[in-house]
Amino acid sequence: MSKPVSESPKIRWMDAVRHAVQAQTLVKVTLSGTWASTPTLRRVLGRLVDLKAGMRVSLVFRHDTRDVTQNFELKEGVDELSRWLDSGGASGFLRTTDAEWELSGFADGPGRLREMRPQPGLNAPAVNRTHDRSRKRAIAPGESTWLGDLGVTTQDGSVCAGKEAKFRQIHRFVEVLGALFEELPDVWDGSVRTLIDMGCGKGYLTFAATEYLRKSSPGQWKIRGIEQRPELVELSNRAALEAEFTNLVFETGSIQDVAVASVDVLVALHACDTATDDALASGIAAGAQLLLVSPCCHKEVRPQMKPPPFLESVLRHGIWRERHAEFVTDALRTLLLEWAGYRTRVFEFISPEHTGRNLMIAAVKRSDSRGREERALSVRELAGHYGIATQRLAERLGFQLSARPQHPLPPAPLRSGSENLL
Ligand SMILES: C[S@@+](CC[C@H](N)C(=O)[O-])C[C@H]1O[C@@H](n2cnc3c(N)ncnc32)[C@H](O)[C@@H]1O
Repeated sequence: MSKPVSESPKIRWMDAVRHAVQAQTLVKVTLSGTWASTPTLRRVLGRLVDLKAGMRVSLVFRHDTRDVTQNFELKEGVDELSRWLDSGGASGFLRTTDAEWELSGFADGPGRLREMRPQPGLNAPAVNRTHDRSRKRAIAPGESTWLGDLGVTTQDGSVCAGKEAKFRQIHRFVEVLGALFEELPDVWDGSVRTLIDMGCGKGYLTFAATEYLRKSSPGQWKIRGIEQRPELVELSNRAALEAEFTNLVFETGSIQDVAVASVDVLVALHACDTATDDALASGIAAGAQLLLVSPCCHKEVRPQMKPPPFLESVLRHGIWRERHAEFVTDALRTLLLEWAGYRTRVFEFISPEHTGRNLMIAAVKRSDSRGREERALSVRELAGHYGIATQRLAERLGFQLSARPQHPLPPAPLRSGSENLL
């Protein structure tokens, strides 16, 4: 690959790309710039993939809020990259199994080409050519830099030892999200939509949602992750930058206080105790179409619970009392969500062998508000049965758990005297 130094950096960089494709040593190539013909385009990312028809150059066109993937014959793929480089590229990065080439500064001059060889002793990056974009595996380990940045996968794209359960959870989450999105035809109308993940931790699931939506949604999505620990927020924002997810941002904040002006999808998985209720209340107030929570650390209801006499002898066992309190809390939440105008579903989202905290409540907004009074009655019956006076979601929704109805039916129109006595 020795070239006369008189060749411009741009030509030498493109030669290196061509050589890497021919020699099948290409790990990844990235082109950044601004393209007048395609103003929303931010990057072009390339790699080799093995398809049934043979090896191809796969180019991902990364727009502001979505990705478009196209596969090319090897020569065409290189020509395509060259065309985008010439028509608005501002910098380029090439990683092969042997070296890295950084191209910059040619927008307003001859440009610079920096070649970096791996330090001895460091593992050389491996080429991952798996074409793994089937719907079931929307997240492919070798393709997603964030999985590596968050410590789920190694540099060669395999899942780290001890992170298999986390990887399965990420997958399952995307499957669940995909199935629920089928019920939300409105969010696919192409307008700008928002997803918020409250108590997002390191952001595994926030990244998974972002990648899923980039690949499957024709519309534009803004994704917010809210987390109270600033060090996790910093880590996640760095990984978002590296993944070039410009529509994803992590914010330090508390679920109780974060301002939510509008949201279409709200996620809160394993937000402790009443933080789940606060997340649900914010989502409902902001008109979310889908709420997805996996409650944990149920502390609020248990000390208030006065079980009916026939259950007292069994609920003296701590574990049953704890599980019963979880059931009562989540049952109240579900009924309150239905009262607030949502259709609910309760299921285990991952096998209990991976995590004990696996109950998921999904709530999809209904278009009508029928049956509200019956729902209110069910909430009060359940709370009354266990002597529960306060529950955070009820409180946040302004719903009184005591028997006094706060949304009385409008008075019936006067007809005959005898009817109105009933
Ligand atoms: C068990 S982790 C779950 C992370 C992520 N949702 C998941 O399921 O992978 C819970 C996270 O929620 C955060 N958290 C708990 N209560 C919170 C609150 N009130 N406001 C913001 N973050 C909270 C914790 O700091 C922690 O990182």
